[in-house]
Amino acid sequence: MLVCSPRAGRSSELLKLASSLGLTDESVFSEVGLHAPLRSAFEGWQRARALEADCLISFGGGSASDTMKGIVLACAEDGRLLEFTLERLPDGTVKNPLSTRPKLPGIAIPTTVSGADITPAFALTEETGKKILFRDASVAPRVLVYDPELMASVPARPMSESGMNALAHTIEALYSKARNPISSIHAREAVPLLYRGLHAIAAGSAQRDDYTALALGAYYAGVAITNARTGLHHSICHKLGPAVGLTHGLTNSIVLPHVLQFNLPAAREELAAMAELIGNAGVGVTARTPEEAIAAVQGLSKRAGLPTRLRDANVSREKLPALAQVILNEPGLAFNPRPVESAAQIQALLESAW
Ligand SMILES: [Fe+2]
Repeated sequence: MLVCSPRAGRSSELLKLASSLGLTDESVFSEVGLHAPLRSAFEGWQRARALEADCLISFGGGSASDTMKGIVLACAEDGRLLEFTLERLPDGTVKNPLSTRPKLPGIAIPTTVSGADITPAFALTEETGKKILFRDASVAPRVLVYDPELMASVPARPMSESGMNALAHTIEALYSKARNPISSIHAREAVPLLYRGLHAIAAGSAQRDDYTALALGAYYAGVAITNARTGLHHSICHKLGPAVGLTHGLTNSIVLPHVLQFNLPAAREELAAMAELIGNAGVGVTARTPEEAIAAVQGLSKRAGLPTRLRDANVSREKLPALAQVILNEPGLAFNPRPVESAAQIQALLESAW
């Protein structure tokens, strides 16, 4: 069964794929929505069960592969998805029940560079806008197919947004409290590749090699973040994006420089390394200090024409205090280099991004 959004479901690329696989219309589940709605994962599970699907193939951005992971888990556990959520308990520990039943194989064909296809982590969104987190390596796609020509058919805006998400994965991996040699080496490889690709997309001059650089960078970034976990930045993005109706990529793009500023006192060395890595992208951007690295990250969003303040993305300021409170309970805070002690700190950060 193919898993994609309604728009992707009508694309010539997907129709070609379905016909080359000999799939019927029922085998194309094109109900993936923004932020991977939980409801779609349940519907996809029912469809896959009715079809007796033996393999799932996601086609699209992060929401398509996250929905596929949800369907894989639901198929294995007879729909009992909510028994496997990742939660942070009041005592600060993280609860992560794992599913041990055999899984259907998943194949991901990403059209963007979110890296969601690589990680065992995924999020499904309830109708209230609440994102439910999962982490289970057994549901991750077993095969990943990046096609630079397919990626070149995606408009610059969503590509830039998802690239900023990938870049955020590298930075969070570089300074995560759970970082290790494997995550660090992948993050370091990813930064210049992503910066180069994003720079070319923003300039409107991206060639096949730039898309290949982006895809490889996104893959490395996914391996990095899988091994290092995400911190404050993704904790904010997971709550803020669905609550205000912004894509995960755009939320990343707007919030990232502000989180880096917040983390600067605890991550000067890693952000200095980031500066050097940006210089290695070979696009004529030099950053020497951690502060210049942060400016270079924000410079990418500006060059791509993405909004850089929450107010410019129509986010209402009144929503920020309640969001800050919710973000304080996110499991990812445990991996952030600078301890987050209060909702007031998070609110101040959100206000700075507003
Ligand atoms: Fe992300």
